[in-house]
Amino acid sequence: MAKKVLSSHSIGKIVILDFGSQYTQVIARRVRESQIFSEVLPHTVKASQLAQDSTICGIILSGGPASVYGAKAPALDKKIYQLGIPILGICYGMQLLAHDLGGKVARSERREYGQGELTVKKTGLLFKKLSRKLEVWNSHGDHIEKLPKGFVALGTTENAPHAVIGDEKRHIYGLQFHPEVAHTPQGKEILNNFLFEICRCPATWTMGSFIEDACQKIRAQVGNGRVILGLSGGVDSSVAAALIHKAIGDQLTCIFVDNGLLRAGERQAVQDLFERNFKMKLKVASAEKQFLSKLRGVSDPERKRKIIGKEFIQVFEKCASDLQRSSKKGAAPFKFLAQGTLYPDVIESVPIGDNPAALIKSHHNVGGLPKNMKMELVEPLRQLFKDEVREVGRELGLPREVVDRQPFPGPGLAVRVIGTITPSGLKILRAADAIVIEEMRASDWYYKVWQSFAVLLPVQSVGVMGDERTYDYTIALRVVESQDGMTANWVDLPSSLLGKISSRIINEVKGVNRCVYDISNKPPATIEWE
Ligand code: XMP
Repeated sequence: MAKKVLSSHSIGKIVILDFGSQYTQVIARRVRESQIFSEVLPHTVKASQLAQDSTICGIILSGGPASVYGAKAPALDKKIYQLGIPILGICYGMQLLAHDLGGKVARSERREYGQGELTVKKTGLLFKKLSRKLEVWNSHGDHIEKLPKGFVALGTTENAPHAVIGDEKRHIYGLQFHPEVAHTPQGKEILNNFLFEICRCPATWTMGSFIEDACQKIRAQVGNGRVILGLSGGVDSSVAAALIHKAIGDQLTCIFVDNGLLRAGERQAVQDLFERNFKMKLKVASAEKQFLSKLRGVSDPERKRKIIGKEFIQVFEKCASDLQRSSKKGAAPFKFLAQGTLYPDVIESVPIGDNPAALIKSHHNVGGLPKNMKMELVEPLRQLFKDEVREVGRELGLPREVVDRQPFPGPGLAVRVIGTITPSGLKILRAADAIVIEEMRASDWYYKVWQSFAVLLPVQSVGVMGDERTYDYTIALRVVESQDGMTANWVDLPSSLLGKISSRIINEVKGVNRCVYDISNKPPATIEWE
């Protein structure tokens, strides 16, 4: 099983084994920032599986909340230590490797948490070109009492004589602190020393190389088979469509479902971009009536979502089977279903780990496609983070309106017309929403915020227009900033902009005589009103 070590690789990647740290994804990011591909795998992966992949230059063991002596301490296949691939254990990862290789780990009296000072005892490759005193970020309860055979202490902190350990012959290292977080200012350099000096990994991961590689993989998977993809116009499905189209051209057919809950001009924009510009095969399913009749009289938000989810699957399945049936004789079957699944969705399947994406996803099932379609999945974005997907989109020539588009919920305007949905309510909301988008763009605020949209409230109030008394509806304006949609703050937009949006909506949208600004944060409010 032994592999050659410290030889230069031409392509390479780093595997991060997840022990449940909240920082696992951050480690993956840091590695990719150094232009090296990184992949997070569950800690249960077998050595034999890793041995089959000759591109692995190094392995990082993440931190985690457990203690190596805990009853359910997550373990590692010990044969991994014998693969000859350099290993870096961080926090729990370090304690585990010390424990597995014959050292002794013990509970500390006091949990070491926060900033500390590391004194480098031996520079070696890990601390090459770094100073002898470094600020580091700690968060651990256990410490190493006795080093495993072959290891020496490379660095110490006030509380930990074995804060950094290494067996330079076997290229196995451990850090008690977290190099991946910003609170360890030189952490990036330490990681880079591991990646470049110890693993000798080449910095070849770029979006261009990703696209080439992904296209080859798609072609190899699909052969001459045909692929369908549910295109929503959002970032993920749009980038997946553009990438797969680049790889296999006309073997891809996209399906766009018009559920009658889209924003003004949305259907046309998707058709213009993908059909006219990209010359993609695009089938538009006009299902407005079907959706709206199923939603008639329904005011409960959860029921709305369920109905929309169910109808979506039905429409999509029918469309897919129509495509199969109407195919020319001898045409390859649609054997593949493509999806814009992203990395955070994949990581969720890692059994341990504090993954915030899990929470947000529970209600994101509307765009999800039927699992029982008996088609093989094509998911070329599985390895990417959202901002990387955006970069791929830009490389592929997708315009900014698509690539940097604000999120739009799967159930569309249904969750922004509060209470029962009517054609007239949708008409009002669409018109108001178009004004919001237009003014946000014109003032350069659109791309600065996470989301900006209008909500139609079922509240009528008295107003006066000209000489006439009105009794019309209220539009709430919601503009928030957020990192990931999990928490959000309302945005303090300039009052001149708020005033302009409000007066335009009231003057231009028939049926509205009042506009209010939502100044609630999430939590306790949510971003969408339903
Ligand atoms: P909430 O309202 O839960 O929304 O604070 C958080 C983020 O998720 C979006 N969202 C959805 N996206 N399907 C989606 O694809 C949905 O059902 C859905 N519900 C909310 C919302 O726009 C915000 O960005």
